[in-house]
Amino acid sequence: MRTHTLLFLSFYLFLSAATYAWGPTGHRVVGTIAERHLTPRARRAIHQLLGDTSLAWVSTWMDEVRSDQRYDDTHDWHWVTIPDGATYASSEKNPKGDVIEAIGRMEDILRSDTASVPRKREALKFLVHLVGDLHQPLHVGRGDDKGGNTVQVQWMGHGSNLHRVWDSDMVDQEALSYTELAAALDHVDKQRCRAIQLGGPADWALEDIALRDGIYDLGTDNNIGYSYLYRNWPVVQERLLTAGVRLAGILNAVFR
Ligand code: ADE
Ligand code: ZN
Ligand code: ZN
Repeated sequence: MRTHTLLFLSFYLFLSAATYAWGPTGHRVVGTIAERHLTPRARRAIHQLLGDTSLAWVSTWMDEVRSDQRYDDTHDWHWVTIPDGATYASSEKNPKGDVIEAIGRMEDILRSDTASVPRKREALKFLVHLVGDLHQPLHVGRGDDKGGNTVQVQWMGHGSNLHRVWDSDMVDQEALSYTELAAALDHVDKQRCRAIQLGGPADWALEDIALRDGIYDLGTDNNIGYSYLYRNWPVVQERLLTAGVRLAGILNAVFR
């Protein structure tokens, strides 16, 4: 094997070793949709923290800092384990944190009178990412397969895993930019917006759990592609839209 082929392969293997969240496109779609549903007051407060940087732009930052040791304690905040038939309240809590409690903590920091501006800025960047993660159905895991990360699949004829299919393979297959996808999805009126925004993170996790049977329907050989995408693309669209509308609802409430 030629040296550059080896280099390319090892880089590719490194990239595919672990998947964390919606890929960049999914997270940016959520940030973009949220921005379209902010109240003027929330928009002003967010501008004070981020300047001209968009929610889409900061949405992926929590994945970028995973390689920075200073953020080691945030690794488990991206997901939560809730076994079949359980609820968040009834399930064992991870002492290192989880996506549901982390969302609450970030809201508290943003509401606080004493937290510094840099701390609030960081909390906002975390929050944008975490509300997205909560709506990637496999970020609410069964507890036996790291949210599908250990479920090897053939996706469109190449090796992947079920978690990665939901983080990025399906979204990337559509080959749309995040602005195109956000614009295509976001046609909700005020009334539907309010309905979507009801409840809170622990309720929303139950929606992810309800999707499990369909997500784990992989046929006999875990060889999935177009028909899996056809069946699940509407789910992906609904989760991204819902996440964006709910993120706006949280931010509108925090900055009321
Ligand atoms: N590690 C363990 N469970 C996980 C999940 N549901 N999502 C991502 N990483 C995990
Ligand atoms: Zn994440
Ligand atoms: Zn993920």
